[in-house]
Amino acid sequence: MSAKVNVKKGLEGVVVDQTGVSKVNPEINALVYRGYPVQDLAENCCFEEVAYLLLKGDLPRVDQLKEFEDLERSRRNISPALQSVITSLPAKCHPMDAVRTAVSFQGTEDSRILDDSKEIQFDKAIDLLAKIPTMIAADFRHKKGREYIAPRKDLPMAENFFHMCFGEVPAPEIVRAFDVSLILYAEHSFNASTFATRVITSTTSDIYSAVTGGIGALKGPLHGGANEQVMHMMLEIGDENKAEDWMMTALKEKRKIMGFGHRVYKKGDSRVPTMRKYTQKMADVTGEKKWMKMYDGLEKVMVREKNIYPNLDFPAGPAYYMMGFEIDFFTPIFVMSRITGWSAHVMEQAANNRIIRPLSEYTGDLEQTVKPVGER
Ligand code: COA
Repeated sequence: MSAKVNVKKGLEGVVVDQTGVSKVNPEINALVYRGYPVQDLAENCCFEEVAYLLLKGDLPRVDQLKEFEDLERSRRNISPALQSVITSLPAKCHPMDAVRTAVSFQGTEDSRILDDSKEIQFDKAIDLLAKIPTMIAADFRHKKGREYIAPRKDLPMAENFFHMCFGEVPAPEIVRAFDVSLILYAEHSFNASTFATRVITSTTSDIYSAVTGGIGALKGPLHGGANEQVMHMMLEIGDENKAEDWMMTALKEKRKIMGFGHRVYKKGDSRVPTMRKYTQKMADVTGEKKWMKMYDGLEKVMVREKNIYPNLDFPAGPAYYMMGFEIDFFTPIFVMSRITGWSAHVMEQAANNRIIRPLSEYTGDLEQTVKPVGER
């Protein structure tokens, strides 16, 4: 008899490596990016500053930010070949599948794909940061049967994304709420998609393969895909006065409630109060009051009945909806933010690498005898 193995299902509680990128502290509901509290970054910085922080290690000075922004803006165009890949995808394919395919294709266009020197890795990270929004917007336009809109160099990332999707830049409050969501979504330590990028990087594979894998992991409804499911749930409920009954029935039926719960946070997600505030601003700007009433109603019941709190996807879903995005573009928007965290982790893993190769407990047959095919 072999010794009892203590399997940590879902790697719960397992510390697999060290990182200097971010820290989640569930005891005090805190999240820091390279030492800076995420709430402070959201209130005081733009997404580009936070992208710089994650990729370079500290917040930029004015001249450093200008140089970084100029570089990012100069890389926004995607090739005609990539545009035609996006428009040749099946019309009904999910936008996450489109951006996953587009990132993979971008890797085939990069002749430096196997160069993993620090400078080139950073350069590829900038390319991904700059081009992913263009890929997503190209797919957004294509799925609406509209013409592609080229990126503008004179606009910050958030404004440029609205421009590429809608042909116009909305009110500053809407752009700001979007920018805040990008800051809050940018990084979250060893979550499933980030771990996937680190596993792929640990084999000394390239950053495009790692990010393609990260997008695949993020798509799942238990991870980033939850922000879309939250909005589907809210639309299914339909009326804010039905929130309590709907939740009680769903809990009785043991349904998973999207946008609630977290592997690490058990007393609430540190990012939620900031995002909730900006989602409320979206409700004030658009006059759509019912989603926040429904939000509060659902939260009240879930906390009362199960002591389970909302995660960031819960306020982000209705915020993106009120901004006018199609629901299946919510998780791709998460990608255009999380590319910063993924890239930082890819570079960190590559700089101090050992292949990630855990063990498993075998539970299959132990003694089988191979018989010739005709005798089985
Ligand atoms: N709805 C209903 N029950 C939930 C729940 C939810 N959203 N989240 C957790 N629970 C329940 C679990 O079913 C489990 O109950 P059990 O002990 O009776 O089996 C208990 O709470 C503990 O779950 P836990 O071990 O903390 O969950 P996990 O760490 O395995 O999974 C998530 C974490 C995030 C995957 C899970 O909470 C979930 O599926 N949430 C919904 C999807 C979502 O919003 N994802 C985005 C995460 S940022």
